Amino acid sequence: MMANSDSLKDTYITAKAFCLTSAIWFAFATTIGMMAAGYLIAPDFMANIGWLVFSRIRPIHVNLVLLGFVTPGLLASAFYIVPKVLRTRIYSEKLGIASVIVWNLAILIGIIALSAGHTQGREYAELIWPADMLVILAFALVFVNLVMTVRTRKEPILFVSVWYALAAVVLTAVTYCLGNVVWRPDTGALVGIPDAILLWFYGHNVFGLLLTPLSLAVAYYVIPLATRKPLYSHTLSLVGFWSLLVVYTHIGTHHLLQVPVPTWLKVISIVDSIAMVIPVMVFLINIWYTARGRLGEIHANIGAKFIFTGTIFYFIVSIQGSMMALPQVQRVTHFNNWVVGHAHVGVLGFSAMIALGGLYFILPRITGKPLYSRFLADFQYWLVMLGVIGFTVVLTIAGLIQGNAWLNGETLYRTLPQIHMYYVLRVAIGFLILSAAYIGLYNIVRTLFFNPGAET
Ligand code: HEM
Ligand code: HEM
Repeated sequence: MMANSDSLKDTYITAKAFCLTSAIWFAFATTIGMMAAGYLIAPDFMANIGWLVFSRIRPIHVNLVLLGFVTPGLLASAFYIVPKVLRTRIYSEKLGIASVIVWNLAILIGIIALSAGHTQGREYAELIWPADMLVILAFALVFVNLVMTVRTRKEPILFVSVWYALAAVVLTAVTYCLGNVVWRPDTGALVGIPDAILLWFYGHNVFGLLLTPLSLAVAYYVIPLATRKPLYSHTLSLVGFWSLLVVYTHIGTHHLLQVPVPTWLKVISIVDSIAMVIPVMVFLINIWYTARGRLGEIHANIGAKFIFTGTIFYFIVSIQGSMMALPQVQRVTHFNNWVVGHAHVGVLGFSAMIALGGLYFILPRITGKPLYSRFLADFQYWLVMLGVIGFTVVLTIAGLIQGNAWLNGETLYRTLPQIHMYYVLRVAIGFLILSAAYIGLYNIVRTLFFNPGAET
């Protein structure tokens, strides 16, 4: 099944470079996350150094987890999976490496500018225009490489992972341009309500049309292989694909239910947020039926273990999300830590779990050697798992306290002492995720460069 390691030296270089990118930024992003969490306990934390104040490092944390850690982690797997299922090589490793370089340059410029106070001030679209241009260029290079790989394929049938990976890249390249209003370099924004609508069209599509399809692409590939069973249903996988594209694109306005946007738009976003049950459950039924009776195999394969756990968090975050789109529920959950909890379940519990699983699944296959340490990978799994569960519980409780207090007319500052303890707990739990990131970085660097393991 595996090519010998001599030929592997020249192949999969792009996948390896994306692996490394993801591992490095994971460590960096969680370090910054810990600083941000520290500020929420002690506002004078870090002595208020200008380029490290909360308002600057919060967007750095969020952009790093999205663009530095999770997306490159998933793209690493895509650069292995797409050529593999098409029975060919990636079109151009040189182009691949160019995309990794541009990608990292975009992040570096973006976060240096953010810490210097240069921001476009719109959530998930904070990066300044030159960094935006580099992000778009990186997506374009990845897209050309993947499409050309499809064109030069030996396998006529396109397995569903290829559909998802290509759709993620092309749709994000487009929505990124729209959401960042790239035709207005000075502000990167429209004005007033139309700007809010456009921003959240793009904002939720970062999760729905980038992280979700890339994560599903990886799960669809790994779970059948790890369980040594064919996918339960190819028809269902396509029903899931098209329903995801149709439904997810309409739900961004559920972020604006408390804002004077047209009612018809709110109604569409609420109805489609509930309809999200269709693509979500179609995917989950397909994957869980494939894994039925084979949990032993999943447990034995560290990559599949991460990924299967990610599917469980996908279930939780989606059911929670559909509920949060109901105005009655959102009256309590909006603008407080409940949403931050949901964000960590989604981006960390679902997408990042699958990204890490993908990395551990492909690493032995792209290096020709076993993982440097299966024990460390397992340890990282438990740290991340406990971290996500801990974050979810603590932030959800804090959010409920805040939401109910505000609903009862309480002022904001009087709720702060009540949630202080939960902020402290978040930092304590954050140490688990921080350790997981550094352990993962060590394991991945050892596996890639200093691996004494025998060649497979
Ligand atoms: C050491 C671990 C981590 C800590 C201490 C941490 C802490 C934080 C803090 C303090 C915020 C700002 C919340 C606020 O404004 O009230 C935040 C936001 C966020 N974090 Fe983390 N984080 C960690 C790891 C991660 C990881 C690994 C991911 C994703 C893979 C992630 C994804 C996010 C996202 C998406 C947001 C934005 C939430 C929103 O706007 O609702 N975080 N995090
Ligand atoms: C059925 C699927 C989902 C639905 C219906 C949904 C719904 C929602 C809603 C209504 C909000 C806004 C809450 C508010 O501001 O009051 C929200 C926020 C958020 N969701 Fe989801 N969600 C879903 C799945 C996901 C997934 C899979 C992810 C991650 C991959 C995710 C990540 C986030 C993040 C990061 C935010 C915070 C945005 C912010 O900064 O305000 N969601 N979601």
